[in-house]
Amino acid sequence: MALNVVVGITGGIAAYKAVNVVRSLVLVGHDVHVVATDAALRFVGRPTLEAISRNPVHSELYEGVAEVRHVAIGQAADLIVIAPATANTIAKLAAGIADDLLGNTVLASTAPLVIAPAMHTEMWQNPATVANIATLRSRGVSVVGPAVGQLTGRDSGPGRLEEPETIVAAALAVYAEHAARLAASGDLSGRRVVVTAGGTREPLDPVRFLGNRSSGRQGVAIAAAARARGADVTLIAAHLEVSPPEGVTLVEASTARELQQAVTDAAADADILVMAAAVADYRPAVVVDSKIKKESQGDTLELSLVKNPDILAELGAARRAGEYPGLRLVGFAAETEPDPAALLELGRAKIARKGADLLVVNRVGWTEGFATDGNSVVVLDGAGDIVSEAAGSKMSVADRILDAIVALD
Ligand code: C5P
Repeated sequence: MALNVVVGITGGIAAYKAVNVVRSLVLVGHDVHVVATDAALRFVGRPTLEAISRNPVHSELYEGVAEVRHVAIGQAADLIVIAPATANTIAKLAAGIADDLLGNTVLASTAPLVIAPAMHTEMWQNPATVANIATLRSRGVSVVGPAVGQLTGRDSGPGRLEEPETIVAAALAVYAEHAARLAASGDLSGRRVVVTAGGTREPLDPVRFLGNRSSGRQGVAIAAAARARGADVTLIAAHLEVSPPEGVTLVEASTARELQQAVTDAAADADILVMAAAVADYRPAVVVDSKIKKESQGDTLELSLVKNPDILAELGAARRAGEYPGLRLVGFAAETEPDPAALLELGRAKIARKGADLLVVNRVGWTEGFATDGNSVVVLDGAGDIVSEAAGSKMSVADRILDAIVALD
């Protein structure tokens, strides 16, 4: 699962090696955001870091103020890795100083923090640094290295930055341990959770279909997060572009009507149903048995479509009629409306119409929402009030959605 990883780079000569830390994380599929100190950018160029991370590099505290960037980057992070971490940055972290973007990012984040110190041996062994490292460790910060070896000058000793692959492996292991610890908290333990994910396909003929661009990533992340929190998960999958998570019961459904059947079967003994799938609202009125040939059509081909059942709305109505007692119903609203206020209004009208307990509203477009690693959502309750807002990796958004579901009890 792709993580949102913030790589903090501070001003030591070893900053050039941070390029390989960024690259290794990107190559294994993570979404990497570099936050560099001004001193770091004297050692390694912004264009290099932007090209390698495939994202803008942030260093300025007073840029992006409207989007509250000084906290947004930290809040969205699943993991923060600072490599190299200079003695100065270590001291600032120990004291909780936030006079630059990196300091703010760290303070605004609840993600695990991994630091890879690099400095001359005397600085590493200075009692001030020793005490600062002890303070950080006591707060749960993981320290990778430093290695012993040749330093920048002719001297050698402890203080050399650990190798980038070692830093990346250690950081990902720290994240895995953190995720396992969260899972062990098991707030969905024993709950039966059904998640729909992906996009339905409505056949026209044996080789063609009407479909949509949903990749299934957000639904799969919800299934994985629910499983990690102890739930017994059924994933109803309509054409996923990603692998389903381990440890869930997988039910495949291709069309809206197949999905309806699978959902109806699974909802009977579910505690929570999350309808993240993009379900076709219409299907071709006629599915022909052999391939439609252009030779037998004119210059235009007209398709006649009929409405599909609205699965969520039907379940909402059945619930209002007393069926499915105790079932928590969560819908999604993917909208292209650019205006945030109008987007929320659409969401409010939709949750009222569908009769769900929660509605997860997100904006989609040519480059937003679908098939991306990150997501940004607003969760509304039955009264149309905002109960949660989340932005970040689809995994962290999944956890915030599950938090909102757990909070319904
Ligand atoms: O506005 P729309 O009807 O597409 O609402 C989206 C929500 O409704 C999603 O949760 C989707 O899974 C669900 N849906 C459904 N049946 C449909 C269309 C959408 O359950 N036919």
